[in-house]
Amino acid sequence: MIILAIETSCDETAAAIVEFSREKAKVLSSIVSSQIKMHKKYGGVVPSLASRMHLKNTIPVLDKAFKQAKIKKDKIDYIAVTNGPGLIPALMIGVSAAKALSFALKKPLIGINHIEGHVYSNWLKPIGKVQSPKSKVQNYKLLKPKFPILCLTVSGGHTQLIFMEKDLHYKIIGETIDDAAGEAFDKVAKLLDLGYPGGPVIEKMAKSGDEGRFKFTRPMMQSKDYNFSFSGLKTAVLYETRKSEREIDLKYKKDMAASFQRTVIDVLVSKTVRAAEEYGAKTVLLGGGVSANEKLRADLGRVLREEMPNAAYHFPLFKLTTDNALMISIAGYYHALDKNRVSDWKSIKADANLKLE
Ligand code: KG4
Ligand code: ZN
Repeated sequence: MIILAIETSCDETAAAIVEFSREKAKVLSSIVSSQIKMHKKYGGVVPSLASRMHLKNTIPVLDKAFKQAKIKKDKIDYIAVTNGPGLIPALMIGVSAAKALSFALKKPLIGINHIEGHVYSNWLKPIGKVQSPKSKVQNYKLLKPKFPILCLTVSGGHTQLIFMEKDLHYKIIGETIDDAAGEAFDKVAKLLDLGYPGGPVIEKMAKSGDEGRFKFTRPMMQSKDYNFSFSGLKTAVLYETRKSEREIDLKYKKDMAASFQRTVIDVLVSKTVRAAEEYGAKTVLLGGGVSANEKLRADLGRVLREEMPNAAYHFPLFKLTTDNALMISIAGYYHALDKNRVSDWKSIKADANLKLE
């Protein structure tokens, strides 16, 4: 079964063509055109600019995906497209392109929730040794994680603990009540004048910083529910930097980055492990842009090994942590196996607040 997937929910225009057969995935192409350089100038994603960039890039990205996959357009079996959540002017470009292709090629269309894509990014595992990055076609196997699953999705727009008893069935057991974890990284990086996006630069600075220098309260770590809150932490960083305006040098920024990152990771790890224990998860997964953070991966892995030795855990390949269309194709494959979840061009709509159900 060959799936063409399209993703334009935020600031990456992406398309992937993947051939699935049982537990295998042959990635014929996966193209991501990032707009980060453009948005960097404004310190964050500008929705109208994102929309214009998607409009400019969608057809060239699709063209490249088909050329690299070396297949004719009518050889695809399904089209999967992210139809929410995200920036509505951005989503509409990908959804329109997918609808037009579905209409013209007479292929079924599948709407995918972006978060679902991040969850399913965990399913893809390389076969054998790591393949040469030069090789265009990449072979993977599809993981069969044991249910029940608990997945922490942490991105620029979302922070959620998702419980799954079977494929494609989601229960959100906790989420942020204000800023998303990635958003907090982005805002703190802005406060420290480190540019956009904040996650990678904070992580880099934190490597040589003293994480014990600034002591922040771990927001909602002790609360009984599984919700998160990161806006107060950002404000605490703001007050601290205002207080010490004159002493902000490189060392200060590194220590602040490390102390902030430590606080966020402590909360994420503690709540995820507690939820996994309470819900009896057999597998713990991670997804979204913040899951690129090596310290988060290392800490979550270590605590899970210590406290839940019988549970498995899997983290996505690094290239699948930030937005891409490959993860959308994987979720699309599981939808396609369940015919009730396949639709046509008439019924898929872009929805900025699409709920994961
Ligand atoms: O999943 P994603 O590409 O887009 C959304 O769906 O939002 O996530 C982007 C977010 C940004 O907030 C970025 O700062 C964060 O992921 N991020 C990281 C790292 N790399 C990206 N956060 C922490 N550490 C990183 N290494
Ligand atoms: Zn994302």
